[in-house]
Amino acid sequence: MNARTCFLVFIASSMGFAVVVPKIGVAGDAKKGQAIYSQSCAACHGTDGKGGIPGAPDFTSKNGVLKSPDSVLIDRITNGYQSKGSPMAMPPKGGNASLTAQDISDVLAYIRQRFGG
Ligand code: HEC
Repeated sequence: MNARTCFLVFIASSMGFAVVVPKIGVAGDAKKGQAIYSQSCAACHGTDGKGGIPGAPDFTSKNGVLKSPDSVLIDRITNGYQSKGSPMAMPPKGGNASLTAQDISDVLAYIRQRFGG
């Protein structure tokens, strides 16, 4: 990806679109992501996305974590993440080491489609 494409992707994602650039990335499949979410994510994030445990963010919140671009969220889902002062960390891949990069794109597509952001 050249600098111009990179810039455009950045702008589009900061405007809140789930950016799918076929040439450079794998598009997420929200349908497949649904199954992954219920198996690996819902225990902590809730089937309603509002956070089932203390510290888990509300995905449906308008100015919440889904404001971040895909690249940031994919990194945090893959490698884990703990924000300042949070009582609990997001475990890498939600604790399911068998998830592939495609699975993570799929689950993010599902989260965006279902909970907004
Ligand atoms: C063991 C509980 C647990 C599981 C399982 C889990 N999460 Fe999380 N997740 C958390 C917690 C707690 C946070 C908040 C971390 C913080 O802010 O310090 C979080 C944060 C997040 C965030 C927001 C990151 C940000 O930018 O603030 C996303 C997106 C996310 N999780 C997605 C997922 C996905 C997708 C899965 C399934 C593959 C998953 N989580 C599984 C506990 C979990």
